[in-house]
Amino acid sequence: MPSSVPVPKAELHLHIEGTLEPELAFALAARNGVTLSHDDELALRHAYAFEDLQSFLNLYYELMAVLRTERDFEELAGAYLERAAAQGVRHAEIFFDPQAHTARGVPFATVVHGLHRALESARERYGMSSRLIMCFLRDQPAESALATLAEAEPFLGLITGVGLDSAEVGNPPAKFREVYEKAAALGLRRVAHAGEEGPPQYVTEALDVLGVERIDHGLRAFEDAGLTARLVREGVPLTLCPLSNVRLRTVDTLAEHPLRAMLAAGLKCTVNSDDPSYFGGYVEDNFRAVRETLGLGPEELRTLARNSFEAAFLDDEEELRARYLAEVEAHDFG
Ligand code: HPA
Ligand code: ZN
Repeated sequence: MPSSVPVPKAELHLHIEGTLEPELAFALAARNGVTLSHDDELALRHAYAFEDLQSFLNLYYELMAVLRTERDFEELAGAYLERAAAQGVRHAEIFFDPQAHTARGVPFATVVHGLHRALESARERYGMSSRLIMCFLRDQPAESALATLAEAEPFLGLITGVGLDSAEVGNPPAKFREVYEKAAALGLRRVAHAGEEGPPQYVTEALDVLGVERIDHGLRAFEDAGLTARLVREGVPLTLCPLSNVRLRTVDTLAEHPLRAMLAAGLKCTVNSDDPSYFGGYVEDNFRAVRETLGLGPEELRTLARNSFEAAFLDDEEELRARYLAEVEAHDFG
């Protein structure tokens, strides 16, 4: 019997706005006088039947309009961190979408300070370490990303890196060459979503043009044998999100998810939750689903957990990484 103790892990692909549960969305809507287009929580949950990435993003952007104050962002992140701690997360690298808030008139400082307060509190309460990664919306103009990076400058002490998310197809990584160059010059780490719905070529471009250190998703890279060989050779981590792929119909069923074959090919895979409120589970739920449906064995699960800490941006806290990795080696994977 596999152990019921959650796998000790780092979560590296998590959009904080995608952790907004319907109950909190309605509570914040009431508090802030925002009207939602769904009558109640049940009606909202019924809307969680997505056709593709865009149909999800439409609801994701609509609902996050309830987030207005520093307290709202703190409560949002606090709720996620409590769940994550219960699901074995020792270290969380959290994406946020500043443009989706500043475009609504919410100041950058409000977002960052609210999130940061929750992260500080999670370090005290659960001993959880964390990082913030600000994502640029790739369906917005490159100039908007540049303006957002400029707006972030006073807060760079609280932000570890930059990412790229939102609608992928038609918005290739090269569109953001300049802002990634500037981010690198400011000492920020770089990741990008690529190969979720977009072609393998976008993964190559993210590596070569944007200089990213990890690929978020990268699922479709596996369609290209040459690219797969390169990712293996260079040890590029992929932050896969299996339940997200099923919900957004990137794969037809979880049973057909290539995770197991990707691990066997030597890719540095990690398992993450993406937008857990919308996709049917938090990160341990993703681990449990792939263990049960794909039949992953103890050593495959250990590799996923080990990869998560090896791929984490913990270079300034190597003793912490070593402690987490020792915990993975000591864990009973069943
Ligand atoms: N893909 C791209 N952009 C996103 C996602 C996602 O799954 N979630 C939030 N923004
Ligand atoms: Zn994502």
